[in-house]
Amino acid sequence: MRMRIGFIGAGKVGFSMGKYFAEHHIDVSGYYSQNKDSAKEAADFTKTKYYETIDELVRDSEVIFITVPDDAIGQVWEQLKTLQPEIKDKIICHCSGVLSSKIFSDISAYNCSGLSIHPLLAVSSKSQSYKEISNTLFIDNCETHKN
Ligand SMILES: NC(=O)c1ccc[n+]([C@@H]2O[C@H](COP(=O)([O-])OP(=O)(O)OC[C@H]3O[C@@H](n4cnc5c(N)ncnc54)[C@H](OP(=O)(O)O)[C@@H]3O)[C@@H](O)[C@H]2O)c1
Repeated sequence: MRMRIGFIGAGKVGFSMGKYFAEHHIDVSGYYSQNKDSAKEAADFTKTKYYETIDELVRDSEVIFITVPDDAIGQVWEQLKTLQPEIKDKIICHCSGVLSSKIFSDISAYNCSGLSIHPLLAVSSKSQSYKEISNTLFIDNCETHKN
């Protein structure tokens, strides 16, 4: 089964995770962001696609990383919920270390899976931090695992 990863939020973590995935031959569909120039820049950086709308990104992606600031994750999830039936069967992830996957309220009612995947890394650069991801621990709510 094809597993393309799409990013909502073209900031430091979105750029870095997308570049890491793309360099490791993991299929990245592309980026949608609040500011279209950010999404275009991230798409150029990762040689993926810029999406003008969330709907198009969702249609093209089986896994969706919501890499917006923590206080906007819930709001983006509320927006995703309205995309019926496109949102069905998607895997929805965020990278916050503060929030759990419970932020994805009622997720099973939408036939989606929700994950919290937090890199223990200070991601300070859109263009350089991806180089450190190979040596980064990721944590979720109940266990740790090294990539
Ligand atoms: N930075 C770190 O060290 C670090 C480490 C681990 C985990 N995290 C987590 O990773 C996530 C992202 O953090 P970050 O540091 O990458 O933040 P960031 O650099 O501020 O980037 C967030 C991006 O999200 C976009 N955005 C904001 N609201 C949006 C919305 N409603 N819809 C679509 N796009 C929106 C912004 O858009 P525009 O540019 O388009 O305006 C910005 O580029 C957070 O959950 C954070 O806790 C961060």
